[in-house]
Amino acid sequence: MGWIEDRTGLISRLNQAAGHRVPRRSGWAFVFGSATLFAFVLQVVTGITLAMFFEPSTATAYESLQQISRPGTFEAVVRGLHYFGASLMVVMVGVHMARVYLMASYKYPREVQWLSGVVLLFLTLAMAFTGQTLRWDQDALWSVVVGAEQAARAPVIGPILARFLMAGDTLNAATLSRLFSLHTFWFPALMFGLIGLHVFLVLRNGISEPPVPGRQVNPRTYKKEYQERVRRDGEPFWPNSAWRDAVFGSALILLVVVLAWTIGAPDLGKPPDPSIVQADPKPDWYLIWYFAVLALWPYGITNIMIILAPLLALLGLLALPLVSNKGERSPSRRPWSIAIVVIMVGLIVSLTVVGYREPWLPAFKAAPLSAAVVSSDDPNVQRGAALFSSQSCILCHKIAGQGGVRGPDLSQVGARLNEQQLKWRIQNGAASMPPYAGVLDPRQLGDLVKFLETRR
Ligand code: HEC
Repeated sequence: MGWIEDRTGLISRLNQAAGHRVPRRSGWAFVFGSATLFAFVLQVVTGITLAMFFEPSTATAYESLQQISRPGTFEAVVRGLHYFGASLMVVMVGVHMARVYLMASYKYPREVQWLSGVVLLFLTLAMAFTGQTLRWDQDALWSVVVGAEQAARAPVIGPILARFLMAGDTLNAATLSRLFSLHTFWFPALMFGLIGLHVFLVLRNGISEPPVPGRQVNPRTYKKEYQERVRRDGEPFWPNSAWRDAVFGSALILLVVVLAWTIGAPDLGKPPDPSIVQADPKPDWYLIWYFAVLALWPYGITNIMIILAPLLALLGLLALPLVSNKGERSPSRRPWSIAIVVIMVGLIVSLTVVGYREPWLPAFKAAPLSAAVVSSDDPNVQRGAALFSSQSCILCHKIAGQGGVRGPDLSQVGARLNEQQLKWRIQNGAASMPPYAGVLDPRQLGDLVKFLETRR
């Protein structure tokens, strides 16, 4: 010990960090940050282990993942750990953030902790998305395509973003290398740096004390008051306060181990084949809500919202500690903060439910078009009109004021598109429209097109 201390000074540094005084009664509300760190370390260790078995090449990735997933093997358990560890990390990031927001721990002098945390949140979600694509099964392949196509619709930077994500205009051999590099080198490297900063600042500024109604944060006096309070009423971080972090973090890791052991990572989908559009590219459960948001937006605003919504979320979160860094911290004096957290949780839960009900379509029951709208005695046209609702077209398209707004209004489509164009579009689908080739037989397709041709 003395030998090491003499040459590095590490022992006294560690003692200092462990023994630094923290506010008393920090309690169980303060364990989520360290739990996130536990999850991150678990992801690093299991991720590096998985990378030893994974072959990031389009020719062999799927096969190597099948090898990894053989039941009962060490690799399969590691994959399970990595899968449930990812869920754990996303959930803990969310809970940690909600706690910090509710107790206004982002106020002076901890603004930079919040700012680095916001970037870490987006990086965590980016890790979640890229990680899922590395399975390189049919669903993963298509979620890259869907993701890139969604991104490509954003104005100006959209196409650049999409090309970057796919390493080209379409899926190709470099796509997987690109995603692998992002997931295993770039994003983790950024996260290491930011987590280092985040933790350093926690040590430097001290853990925020539990808020007391009426006790205001004043940047001019806060630091002195905090030090005063901690000296008078604090306790050493280790072991008086840290045991809760250790217990909670270990319990969660244990839970992940049990889940990985008993349930395991999800089965792979079908082998990848870019020529078959037969996939159900759903993200894992913790991203389903965002998937549902994308599916529910009215067609007209998607292009803007696709980039605007995350950007606004990012800017709003970054602005928070800059516009409001002093004053009350207690949630009882900031009731709207409770309301916002409740609304956000409610939104995410209900969007998740919607996302699970239907892969492509908003889960609404639509009434068939009324007879007055169909207004034709031709039996083919009438059958076509019935198909228009039974095949869910009506969920996305309006005709004469009836139907959904996900796709363009088709009231005048007969004047816009000819028979060939209609057939082509229905069979091939589009960026946000499922392809109906193989769903409709040629007669049904003919009827549907007959009906649409009357729309002018
Ligand atoms: C999930 C929503 C959704 C469903 C279901 C859907 N569509 Fe679409 N459809 C769209 C979107 C979005 C577009 C616009 C695509 C684009 O421009 O990139 C579109 C485009 C079209 C177009 C081209 C319109 C034009 O003006 O260029 C036609 C025709 C069409 N759909 C017909 C149908 C028919 C027929 C069905 C049912 C068999 C159907 N759609 C089902 C979303 C949907």
